[in-house]
Amino acid sequence: MYNVKQITSDMYWVGASDRRLALFENVYPIPRGVSYNAYVLLDEKTVLLDTVDRSVSDLFFENLEHVLGGRKLDYLVVNHMEPDHCGTVEDVVRRHPEVKIVCNAKTVQMIKQFFSFDIDSRAVIVDEMDTLCTGRHTLAFVMAPMVHWPEAMVTYDATDKILYSADAFGTFGAINGNIFADEVNFETEYLDDARRYYTNIVGKYGNQVQALLRKAATIEIGMICPLHGPIWRKNIGWFIDKYIKWSTYTPEENAVMIAYGSIYGNTENVANIIASKLADKGIRNIKLYDVSMTHPSVIVAEAFRCSHLVFASATYNAGIFVTMETALHDIVAHNLQNRTIAIVENGTWAPNSGNLMRGLLGTLKNNTIINDTLTINSSLKEDQLAQVDELVNAIAATIKTEEPIVHDDKKVEPNAMFKLSYGLFVLTANDGKDNGCIINTVTQITDTPKRISIAVNKANHTHDQIMKTGLFNVSVLTNDATFDLFERFGFQSGRDNDKFEGFESVERSENGLYYVTKAANAFISGKVIQTIDFETHTVFIADVTEAKVLANAPSLTYAYYFDHVKPKPAALTEQKGWVCKICGYVHEAEELPEGYICPLCKHGVEDFEKL
Ligand code: FEO
Repeated sequence: MYNVKQITSDMYWVGASDRRLALFENVYPIPRGVSYNAYVLLDEKTVLLDTVDRSVSDLFFENLEHVLGGRKLDYLVVNHMEPDHCGTVEDVVRRHPEVKIVCNAKTVQMIKQFFSFDIDSRAVIVDEMDTLCTGRHTLAFVMAPMVHWPEAMVTYDATDKILYSADAFGTFGAINGNIFADEVNFETEYLDDARRYYTNIVGKYGNQVQALLRKAATIEIGMICPLHGPIWRKNIGWFIDKYIKWSTYTPEENAVMIAYGSIYGNTENVANIIASKLADKGIRNIKLYDVSMTHPSVIVAEAFRCSHLVFASATYNAGIFVTMETALHDIVAHNLQNRTIAIVENGTWAPNSGNLMRGLLGTLKNNTIINDTLTINSSLKEDQLAQVDELVNAIAATIKTEEPIVHDDKKVEPNAMFKLSYGLFVLTANDGKDNGCIINTVTQITDTPKRISIAVNKANHTHDQIMKTGLFNVSVLTNDATFDLFERFGFQSGRDNDKFEGFESVERSENGLYYVTKAANAFISGKVIQTIDFETHTVFIADVTEAKVLANAPSLTYAYYFDHVKPKPAALTEQKGWVCKICGYVHEAEELPEGYICPLCKHGVEDFEKL
């Protein structure tokens, strides 16, 4: 049965996903599968843009014939001749003998090498910026050599501003119903796969990718349709920025990867101690990989992500430990640059892996090896800890870590923050269960299109629901709000309680979520398009999908809440201890523990005052 997706009024995705293939290109593990994307344009002329791997050809042809609906196929554009995309070109020709094949001269040669059909009589050979008018659409062809093969090109639909980008902007990972990148949490679900795909497939060809990016910068792009993975129609700049970093060999993050090859665990022990000491220096998100347990494609991708790399290897057959040697050869083959590297070797009688690793990595440009090789004889001993510290200090001295947070009350008076004016809102979500919490951080970002941001504490159950579903409602509270509303939504956890039990002042918006109708003057529905991680909080950027005014009462401000809604501490309790200025929770103790967080509203020690 066909399974197609309509992308625009006259363009369809006719690809398919393969979740059975273990190794992409018979090399790269793809536990999340892979999609082979192909597209059909139904203009005055019909156009198929690329085909698919033969493994999914049955479904592809059902898709193609369904979308064509009996029309003949006029053109097949071959952007990339690698068999994962054009394995079925000959089958297309057999089914549609009248089809013209639009491609460049290099592609013609490759088609002759892969297939036996007569290409010369049906080839429409194009070169840089040649165009093809198909009726309403004008397609322009842009050469993209070595992204990923020499014949690769991309097609730009100048009418609808769509870039058919071939391998560029693709990713491993099957399509799970959601064809658009903005319909999934790309950063958490696909980014690691996208990085692993890019770095391993085209990472070697950074200059050529940059050349394509420079060409892309001169055209208006409203949508990117790659040959693998989701289609981009929003937040395209975010993904292009990743490509700029990857193709210029700029570290994506200031971070440390430690890769070790260990036979009996002694080299692993050194790697762990280095990691632990780096952590003591304040370095976060350190990643350790056993190269015998981790596929080299992951090591390559992580080497592209991280600014600092430590390679620790046992000596084996007078050489580098086998799995480390494979990983390093892969890194060298992908032309990695601009990294800071430390080397550790181990050997019981003739340690030699350090020199060899240094020699291999020395063939790459613009890297800095920061230490004399740290040599371990069988296992690390107490008297070598100073050398380990030296290596750790050298890394710590060169890694850019975030400036420590300044807690100097002379410079940063916490009360100054209370001079900012805020509203108060009920934030609602549903991941199978209705839930909500109180927030004060709703801000409109843009008017066209209408977008808002909210910041939500990660300790809130509502936060996790929004991460999961990408949907929320904000109900704007008014001065009529009473304290019991804040107790209901702010002072209990939705994990253990049904916050809507016995609460009837709600209706559902079009997204199916509750919004509050009592003491609220408007609601706004948001669909998340981007998340930004701020350690304790996540900032969600969202498109406004629905918004309605409910009343004309004035919006509640934080200041009004403190002066008129929140009961004064004396009325709350006769207890002794520390009271949360935000929600009134009392912690009964002489002193507040360091780093204490209000169990009700999640505010920190700065929002407590002594009773
Ligand atoms: Fe997805 Fe270079 O083929």
